[in-house]
Amino acid sequence: MGETVLITGAGRGIGLALTKEFLAAGYRVFAGIRKTSHLIEKEQGQYPTLLSPIPLDVTEMASVRAAAAKISAQTPALEILINNAGVYLGDKTQPLEELDLEDNHLQQTMEVNAFGPLRVVQQFLPLLTAGRKRIIINISSEAGSIGDCWRKQEYAYAMSKAALNMQTRILHNYLSPRGFKVKAIHPGWVRTDMGGKEADLDPATSAEGIFNVIQKTIAEESVTKDGGEGIFLDYQGKILRW
Ligand SMILES: NC(=O)c1ccc[n+]([C@@H]2O[C@H](COP(=O)([O-])OP(=O)(O)OC[C@H]3O[C@@H](n4cnc5c(N)ncnc54)[C@H](OP(=O)(O)O)[C@@H]3O)[C@@H](O)[C@H]2O)c1
Repeated sequence: MGETVLITGAGRGIGLALTKEFLAAGYRVFAGIRKTSHLIEKEQGQYPTLLSPIPLDVTEMASVRAAAAKISAQTPALEILINNAGVYLGDKTQPLEELDLEDNHLQQTMEVNAFGPLRVVQQFLPLLTAGRKRIIINISSEAGSIGDCWRKQEYAYAMSKAALNMQTRILHNYLSPRGFKVKAIHPGWVRTDMGGKEADLDPATSAEGIFNVIQKTIAEESVTKDGGEGIFLDYQGKILRW
């Protein structure tokens, strides 16, 4: 069997573009989806043996466990995990005074963007440990950078990505002695349902960049630099400030 990768939120947007990129490179791709996606079905028609859609809602522990069991039945090891699933809830432009803090968008954003990846890492750790590459990629955002923060709103999304960045650093500290490489990658501003039509990049360009950063990560030595520099990167491999 070739190299294996699990991508969450693979039914559309950057997750779908990453799926296509890894399939074209010959990877066996487990595509985490919440519901049937005709776009994934189309890919499956083209790559019937390489692509396996897997039901996966990262907010539900039972769903994450079931996905791990399902994938374990199909492969002895997973080389790469890409935590891509994410949400942007609420209105970008709303100032603090107008925010509805009772509508649950803060909690739901954290559930998907910050806690979701931790659930997935926990349940897939045995399969990843059985792999030789041991790569964990969290698709984060420049919005999660505290050092470079310019925003005056967007609390839920920016806070969830800052939390994801912290998670990435803790996982790096915990897992690098076991040979894991853990990175947080900002995909750029991408034309997806989340990024909108005005965004800079098409999903394929972002996915190709992320693919290349992952290949570089596989090839490099894992070292912890001062302040964790080099763990938080963009899709072109540029180091971002925490
Ligand atoms: N687009 C950008 O400009 C941009 C910039 C910075 C960072 N990002 C990050 O890049 C990642 C992908 O974003 P995107 O632009 O591709 O967004 P998108 O087009 O809105 O797609 C989001 C994906 O996440 C999935 N998802 C949402 N909630 C989920 C859950 N509870 N469990 C499993 N999957 C779930 C969605 O599945 P369904 O189809 O089932 O809803 C969908 O596949 C996100 O983490 C996002 O924060 C994007």
